[in-house]
Amino acid sequence: MNLKGWLIAAYTSLFFGACAQKEIKFTPSNSEPFRPGYHFSPKQGWMNDPNGLVYLDGEYHLFFQHYPDSTVWGPMHWGHAVSKDLVTWEELPIALFPDSLGTIFSGSAVYDAENSSELGTKENPPLVAIFTYHNAVGEKEGAIDFQTQGLAYSVDKGKTWSKYAANPVLLNPGIRDFRDPKVTQITKEDGKKVWLMTLAAKDRIQFYESPNLKVWTLLGEFGQGIGAHGGVWECPELLFLKAPDGSQKWVLLVSMNPGGPQKGSATQYFIGDFNRGVFTPDDTMIRWLDYGPDNYAGVTWANLPKEQNRTLWIGWMSNWDYAQVVPTKTWRSALTLPREISLFDVDGTLLLKSAPAIELEKARKTTYELSGEESLLPSPFVEISAEITQENFSMTLSNELGEEVVINKEMGLVTVDRRKAGKANFNRDFAAAHSAPMSWKAESVRVFLDASSIEVFVNDGELVFTSLLFPTSPWKKVTLIQGLDDVEILDLQESSKPSLEKKADN
Ligand code: FRU
Repeated sequence: MNLKGWLIAAYTSLFFGACAQKEIKFTPSNSEPFRPGYHFSPKQGWMNDPNGLVYLDGEYHLFFQHYPDSTVWGPMHWGHAVSKDLVTWEELPIALFPDSLGTIFSGSAVYDAENSSELGTKENPPLVAIFTYHNAVGEKEGAIDFQTQGLAYSVDKGKTWSKYAANPVLLNPGIRDFRDPKVTQITKEDGKKVWLMTLAAKDRIQFYESPNLKVWTLLGEFGQGIGAHGGVWECPELLFLKAPDGSQKWVLLVSMNPGGPQKGSATQYFIGDFNRGVFTPDDTMIRWLDYGPDNYAGVTWANLPKEQNRTLWIGWMSNWDYAQVVPTKTWRSALTLPREISLFDVDGTLLLKSAPAIELEKARKTTYELSGEESLLPSPFVEISAEITQENFSMTLSNELGEEVVINKEMGLVTVDRRKAGKANFNRDFAAAHSAPMSWKAESVRVFLDASSIEVFVNDGELVFTSLLFPTSPWKKVTLIQGLDDVEILDLQESSKPSLEKKADN
């Protein structure tokens, strides 16, 4: 582009940027009917993937893909929130803004305890964020190397962030989709600690290693010709988990858009071994983390205290097929419940289980026991838990307008049916029933209902469905058709609506 072209482009983007700023002036609202009561949602504007999950000194940090000026995807920032209990979230000022290298796409954060990066000091080690720079100008001009990886760091426990002066730290080798670094520290056979990065590179995952987070060496890659390939691979993570027999396995999470089991975006995973940059899956089976349509780009928290002895995960509760048109007004998207990820065994096959984080139990306000076949709900923010006593079961949640969501098991299939669950005209495929086979015994079910979502955990997460719902009037009633006993309704009222200024809450 010549100077004139550049000036026109700059002027146009300034002009339209200003217009856009004017148009999208809105007041953050808690009184919108679909504002979640106990799921994290941004005060205002757009959110997608959770980013930079890291625990430090009693606080769970959560960063997220954020465009504060609009309710649709745009120039990405990293929004920021913290929680002490994983239920109540406090949204903090935006952590990372776009700069001359690009907008800030997904990535991770680590606590660099030994100051290997030298971005802090030995006495005050830094938090380091590793993210993708997306250079939209380069993309528009037809370049293919417009995604690179950069660093930012914080030496005040995540309150404020500075970009690393010599960004980017990983250049693009000529791959259009080259993003979403998830970094973790591993100890090698010789006892040396190194940083390991998993990175999505179009239709595969690359593994890089670094001694200091600044210099990265490619070790290997995985994925060509294996797994589901209906879309681009994104937001990978490599986990080290204990199998029920005591052995250790490596699990690779890979989000993909589109091509999910319920259309649109979804997360698959592979179980196997990892050695010197080579990930070897145990088999070629395709496995999905969640069989609902609305769980994407989930990753785990770094630096959890050892004594927690758990792998704690959270995902984006939406689907790229319709995320930008769902009927919320001043904000868009919430995250899933935080979940604990572990391996379980079905007849010799390992699978991933995701159970609601134990902290959700502390959020219970009142417990009601359900006797009889139906009950009014104490609020639309509830957990309903039950024992499954028969091969088939069915539970219906409904409102006075005849809208309903049905959860059942029939002929070996578990289904969450949102065909009559309210507003759906924003997307052709939204009003659908979503099923998954369950070949092993279903013993219990926990259903988490919030203002615009349902999460169903069979056997505490051996089979999971996450679905958005937009009822025209709040859910009022639960009806049990068959197969359920010891039913409890646990009230989880509005524990974590964003705390908005009084004047804004209109
Ligand atoms: C996944 C994703 C990432 C990317 C980010 C951009 O939802 O497409 O691959 O970094 O969103 O917002």
